[in-house]
Amino acid sequence: MINAVAVRPAHALVCLHCRQEATKGIAYVCRACRDVFLRGECNRLAWARAVRRHLEELGIRLGCSGRQKSKSITLTLFAQEIGTTPQTLRRRLARAEKVERELADHPELLDLVELGDMDAGAALRRARSEEIAAMCTITPEHIEAAKATVDIRCCDFHDLLASLRNVDLILCDRPYERTWLPNFADLARLANDALAAHGMLAAMVGDAYLPEIFEAMRGGPLPFRLLMHYLYPQKAPTAKHIPHRFLSHAKSVLVYGNLRGRYIMDNVINAGLPDKRWHPHGQDVGGFRELVRRLSLPGQLVVDPCVGGGTVAVASLMEGRRFIGGDVDAKAVQMTRYRLSLPDYGEEDIDEPEEERAVS
Ligand SMILES: C[S@@+](CC[C@H](N)C(=O)[O-])C[C@H]1O[C@@H](n2cnc3c(N)ncnc32)[C@H](O)[C@@H]1O
Repeated sequence: MINAVAVRPAHALVCLHCRQEATKGIAYVCRACRDVFLRGECNRLAWARAVRRHLEELGIRLGCSGRQKSKSITLTLFAQEIGTTPQTLRRRLARAEKVERELADHPELLDLVELGDMDAGAALRRARSEEIAAMCTITPEHIEAAKATVDIRCCDFHDLLASLRNVDLILCDRPYERTWLPNFADLARLANDALAAHGMLAAMVGDAYLPEIFEAMRGGPLPFRLLMHYLYPQKAPTAKHIPHRFLSHAKSVLVYGNLRGRYIMDNVINAGLPDKRWHPHGQDVGGFRELVRRLSLPGQLVVDPCVGGGTVAVASLMEGRRFIGGDVDAKAVQMTRYRLSLPDYGEEDIDEPEEERAVS
């Protein structure tokens, strides 16, 4: 690794690497050091800084390969002298600048790279994962804001979605009957208007009508992004109204919109058994918390237009997301409001269910 290069008078003939006086030419890296220096055995960041310093001292601008005003040396000649080409030199400098820029808020990682104790790629990956972890951290303020703004309405999903804008995530588990299928096209259209530019629509669906659902959503403006697999811990017979009944172990969650890959760890959710205490088709809060975590950030707004017994509401509030929900069924709305008024949303006294429960 080269030593820090001190400020020198212009045209000082000192090797960037060993710092010996050069005897001949414009030897910014002496011949003895050149191979080591350029094979990358030295620290790239220190290399870039040293090169930049020398270019500055010599008054050479990177954008220009020819002779610059009264300067006696060109970028091409300088590059030649250090055994490279102007193109490679620019590329390496740009890469170093990118590392410095992206690590500007991570001085400890930049230090490690400068000292040669960490590879620049590894430092950038670490910085990104630290930034994501910070974005995903739920603060008490998120929890308080979520509680203070929760809003459960008794209305049809058309009216709810038409009244909303800038939603970050629409997450719903709508009815599974064939008669509900025509609503998917409206759901896609209204969700598109209600969602923020980066927003997503995630709809839990059974497998029985997948082709029809894909077809209905295909005509809508939201692009399909991902199919997530919501796995139950045990299999159960599908509900009676589903044609071709089978033992089901899983459901699918269709994700549409502008998926930002970094929030998705993987496409499988290991959920608990459905929780029917609050609604005949109630789902497990744990599984929906995981969906909320993967598809949105703390402080963001989640909407469930078919709120049922309030599983998505509870999951969102527990994850520090603001929440708006709706349901056409006044009883479901009443139950969700009641559930949200309970300490820990009634989650503290949950029993481990043992018997088989139908997957609707
Ligand atoms: C499968 S359940 C939701 C269960 C919920 N995920 C839970 O865990 O409790 C579907 C809900 O959608 C509601 N629903 C049906 N049609 C609707 C519509 N057009 N607008 C709003 N809600 C509707 C039903 O009343 C029902 O409560």
